[in-house]
Amino acid sequence: MKKLIYVCLTLLCAAVCVGSVVPVLRAQEGGNTSIECPYDQGYENYIKYFYKGNMANRVVVIQSQQQQHPSCIEHGRYSLCDDRRRRVFTVTIRHLQLEDAGPYWCFIDGWTYNPITEVQLIVDRVPHISPPPHPKPDPVTSRPVPSTTHPSTTNTMETEYTTGMAE
Ligand SMILES: *[C@@H]1O[C@H](CO)[C@@H](O)[C@H](O)[C@H]1NC(C)=O
Repeated sequence: MKKLIYVCLTLLCAAVCVGSVVPVLRAQEGGNTSIECPYDQGYENYIKYFYKGNMANRVVVIQSQQQQHPSCIEHGRYSLCDDRRRRVFTVTIRHLQLEDAGPYWCFIDGWTYNPITEVQLIVDRVPHISPPPHPKPDPVTSRPVPSTTHPSTTNTMETEYTTGMAE
């Protein structure tokens, strides 16, 4: 009985500990990101799945096909490339949006239990994606009239002089 409790506690700890080391992937809004999913020998010809969401509410965002040729497949902003020699499939999400943030899972049909590769994607907002504020109107009248008659050396001196005045 004591032994059973010990085993249960060990399993519980393992589950909690493994759950807390989900790799975090940071990417910028509007950018691209790639997630690599390594797999074991023998799974080269199995269908590869890429899920979004937590375990209970996961949805397949892209999946490979049996005997897929060529090795890359595209679906919307997602692509999945299966490198069977290296035994890793790579999912790329293009033009990232803030809603893309969250947990993702690599999964292979035929695996009887996890090892499932999970990542937590964080999408950083890029402020300059929104339209820039109106530029300050230039005080056109205070600008020196560009001189076309002076040689360029004089022009440089003029510019320096004007800059000095402005401060
Ligand atoms: C994202 O990927 C697409 C297609 O591969 C490419 O055209 C684009 O330049 C990439 N964007 C960035 C921000 O890397």
